[in-house]
Amino acid sequence: MSVQTDSERITARARSIADREQRALLERTSGSAHLFERAVRHMPMGVASSFQAGDPYPIYLKRGKGSHVWDVDDNEYLDYHSGFGVNVAGHAHPKIVEAIERAAREGVHFAVTTETTVELAEEICRRFGLERMRFTNSGTEATMDAIRVARAATGRETILKIEGSYHGHHDAVLFSVVPEAALLGLRGKLGGEAADSAGDVYRTIPTSKGVPASVAEHTLIVPFNDPGALEHVLSERGEEIAALIMEPVMMNVGLVLPQPGYLEAVRDLCTRFGVVLIFDEVKSGATIAAGGAIERFGVQPDLACFAKAIGGGTTIGAFGGKGSIMDVVTRGAAQQGTFNGNPLSCRAGLAALTEVLTPAAYDHLDALGTMLAEGCRRAIEENGIAAHAVDLGAKGCVSYRVEPLRNYRDYLECNQDLFAASWPWLVNRGIFMTPGDEEQWTISVQHDEGDIRTYVEAFGEFCVELAG
Ligand SMILES: Cc1ncc(COP(=O)(O)O)c(C=O)c1O
Repeated sequence: MSVQTDSERITARARSIADREQRALLERTSGSAHLFERAVRHMPMGVASSFQAGDPYPIYLKRGKGSHVWDVDDNEYLDYHSGFGVNVAGHAHPKIVEAIERAAREGVHFAVTTETTVELAEEICRRFGLERMRFTNSGTEATMDAIRVARAATGRETILKIEGSYHGHHDAVLFSVVPEAALLGLRGKLGGEAADSAGDVYRTIPTSKGVPASVAEHTLIVPFNDPGALEHVLSERGEEIAALIMEPVMMNVGLVLPQPGYLEAVRDLCTRFGVVLIFDEVKSGATIAAGGAIERFGVQPDLACFAKAIGGGTTIGAFGGKGSIMDVVTRGAAQQGTFNGNPLSCRAGLAALTEVLTPAAYDHLDALGTMLAEGCRRAIEENGIAAHAVDLGAKGCVSYRVEPLRNYRDYLECNQDLFAASWPWLVNRGIFMTPGDEEQWTISVQHDEGDIRTYVEAFGEFCVELAG
């Protein structure tokens, strides 16, 4: 006779909740189903970006106001998806609307640098402690250009990236983004055999078809939160390595905090081996503090990349850092783009950074984030769910594993069934979230305590149901 463990019982309940909630979701979203049928005729997966795809179809939105969004079926939700972390200003914020209207009246595009572009560059340099910066149109372009600049500045070709991190969809970084457990190197429990800080067992695993195999030779992989593994690779191959690109806090596998001393050790090692340290702050910049992870953790990289929240909801990216490195742009490293620094994005970005995301706004985001995470923690504890909640300013998440995550391999141990049940449960109760457990919630300045209570109540009921 088989004895069901608590965890098996909860997983079985999660599967039945997921089935029931998914059916209910499909019943409420027939408009999305119809739009999908149209969309898929002209766009692969029926979406503009593969990250927007859904199974069997995505929920298509039509409108947002404040902390709320509406789908094409007129279902209303509280928005915690926040456009993958872009909308920290919330929807249709009056200051952003005014900025965009002004740009629409005065000219949205010249391909000539305007005073607004200069003002936004000044504000970005001030916030993040950069000497010089350039604009791009997305996070992908920001990391692509930062890597080029680092290669040009060092005369080296190889880069290092962290296992399980995402830095956009250009060739150099499309390795080991979400590698399958079975393909990983020989480290830790998952590989079956332990190896000490052995950087050389971290395989460079392709994430996308269509990337030339030869590119893999120039991208090496190291684990997060393991300065020993980094030191190992640098001592073997440091002279080939132009840059280490990393998120100072991993935000594409839930939320993985740097352990005390880790970022400082990384900083020292990069300096010792002449490697350009690039912080990818596309998600953390302007969300977890005014000065992003640089401010929150007090470690200054050589270059940093930004996008998402710095544009007040419009299309933007930026990167910059030490003048001595950025000046290779003046000496032949290509960095350009027709829409770079356009007045539409810059007016919206400037309004967001100087008028909306004020010091008081960050206090508000911190307070709401903590309230949300604490509410989730209470529900997790009271119902004995194998999960934990983390928060950092506007960002936070529940990961379905008891202990906090230290790296990508820990993330692979999260219980997918529990997440798969939580997502339609929350959406059916008016909480709009991203459909993958790699993402996290983003709170906006227009969210209030009532919005947080609604989330906590829905999540609490989910935990009760799960525990049975
Ligand atoms: C950490 C990080 N870097 C880079 C990117 C790429 O940004 P974009 O989608 O604007 O190209 C993302 C996108 O999610 C990201 O999360």
